[in-house]
Amino acid sequence: MCGIIGYVGENGGDTAVVDVLMDGLSGLEYRGYDSAGIAVAEPSIAVRKREGDISALEEALHGGKLDGTAGIGHTRWSTHGPPSDVNAHPHTDDETRVAVVHNGIIENYRALRDELEAVGYRFESETDTEVVPHLIAAGLEDGLGCEAAFRQAVARLEGSYAIAAVFAGSETVYAARHESPLVLGIGEDGHYLASDVPAFIQYTDRVIYLDDGEFARITPETVTVTDDAGTVVETSVETIEWDADDAGKSGYDHYMLKEIHEQPTAVRQCLRERVEELERSIAVDSLASLSTPERVQFVACGTSYHAALYGARLLRERGVAATAFLASEYDTDVVPVDSETLVIGVTQSGETADTMGALRGANTVGARTVAVTNVVGSSAARECDHVMYVRAGPEIGVAATKTFVSQQIALVLVASALTGEYDSQLVSALRDFSGQLQTVLDESAAQEVATAYRDAGAYFFIGRGHNAPVALEGALKMKEITYKHAEGFAAGELKHGPLALVTDETPVFALVTAGSKPTKTLGNVKEVQTRGAPVVAVTDGCSDVEQYADHVLEIPETHPTLAPILANVQLQLVSYWVAHELGRSIDKPRNLAKSVTVE
Ligand code: F6R
Repeated sequence: MCGIIGYVGENGGDTAVVDVLMDGLSGLEYRGYDSAGIAVAEPSIAVRKREGDISALEEALHGGKLDGTAGIGHTRWSTHGPPSDVNAHPHTDDETRVAVVHNGIIENYRALRDELEAVGYRFESETDTEVVPHLIAAGLEDGLGCEAAFRQAVARLEGSYAIAAVFAGSETVYAARHESPLVLGIGEDGHYLASDVPAFIQYTDRVIYLDDGEFARITPETVTVTDDAGTVVETSVETIEWDADDAGKSGYDHYMLKEIHEQPTAVRQCLRERVEELERSIAVDSLASLSTPERVQFVACGTSYHAALYGARLLRERGVAATAFLASEYDTDVVPVDSETLVIGVTQSGETADTMGALRGANTVGARTVAVTNVVGSSAARECDHVMYVRAGPEIGVAATKTFVSQQIALVLVASALTGEYDSQLVSALRDFSGQLQTVLDESAAQEVATAYRDAGAYFFIGRGHNAPVALEGALKMKEITYKHAEGFAAGELKHGPLALVTDETPVFALVTAGSKPTKTLGNVKEVQTRGAPVVAVTDGCSDVEQYADHVLEIPETHPTLAPILANVQLQLVSYWVAHELGRSIDKPRNLAKSVTVE
């Protein structure tokens, strides 16, 4: 979804603002976008914006230097109006006194636009955002100063937004946040604001997270945060634990492949100080005050929902009534939820609008909430009663990989910590798990499988028990980065309909691991094999599925609870290599965004 960058300062030369803004846009590319633009203020506002990727904007900059000490930039993921130069941000008022970038959706923009057009303001774009500079201009015309005009305009908006604005002749960037992320960066030579830290991590690792309803004013020397009444808010400066190298590709062709290979490290980080092998204990400090809940409801989307399905099953195994809901379908009017219910939001970004909506709904009816998230200081982390960080490190590839594995491991810990139920074999298996992930990565035959089936008509994934969510995830990964038809099923469901789709052109990936009813899944393998489908077995050797499979992707033996997590890595690699062979845009698949901040 859209990304915002803002900068004020002297970062080493008179074109520095533009450089910082362009670096910032590159750091936000992972969020997904279809156009990009920047505005630099002082003495007058200069705007450059282009449909397409950042290289198109770079070309547009060749025409002339943009001077100034303050600027804003934006990557746009279209909602109102198609991708085009005109609809790209920043947007300005008629007289280019102010330039604005926005992430989110202004729900009352139609009424505001009608009102503004009726008194003579002219709109150029189809965006909801363009009402903001005109509203600000109206304030300026009424005699307000820049900040007052900005605040007055923001007060008129309904919906979700992170907004940044610069004014002609000013060294200040103004910003406001409501249900869309904004973080401030405190640098040596200036100050930054952005939708996410990768936008400025190469310049500073010191950050302040804005809360909903807060405003920020940054100048080269000062950073001021105020509430909606204008009262100065005390903020704390946090230090980011990763650096620009962590957010780079480290020699891999794609972020996705790098992130798949970072999984052993991600898991070690997730387990750190939470699993004590000597004492054979599992504890999560941030959840220590929680007793075993009567009822647990997970809310999540996409890949995180698949992790939530896995987590719910883990809790059910331990005797807790746990259900996973698609966050967009979670409705406290129809779901029994009360103060005895623990609602766990699983969200990599901590900003997904559907998940945040579900968590806020749960909060309103008095449930206790937990965020299982990767992003420190994210909305989910700040708004939930408890937070458990999965500590996967920055994930830039749009397709979630290392964060899924970290979420699954985190949920093993959550289920164990909430119920006090785990066996010593699980503790030992967790100790060995990172090494086993490395073995899968080192020895995987996924690339050969991908070459064999790159032209298949469709791909099916089946598994039972803990493998069922991994089958769904295998299919999701395949479709999002290869653009090919893929479906995942609980293996038992195959014969209730999907089997009609199975032919000799549809490879079936069967997850057959100890503890997840391997014999029954083997029965399903025979069903598809009889219909001529090629079979790829992902297995720990717990059955004789090898005899019925055309290809085998092996995983080491581990605790039955953890085997699906290893199996998933094989599926990630197959999808990656199919997409690679098909020449797809692996890190930025078409139409998708990393952080989905609209409902
Ligand atoms: C798929 C993917 C998405 C996200 C979903 C939720 O690879 O990444 O399906 O899992 O958009 O995002 P988060 O976890 O940030 O809430």
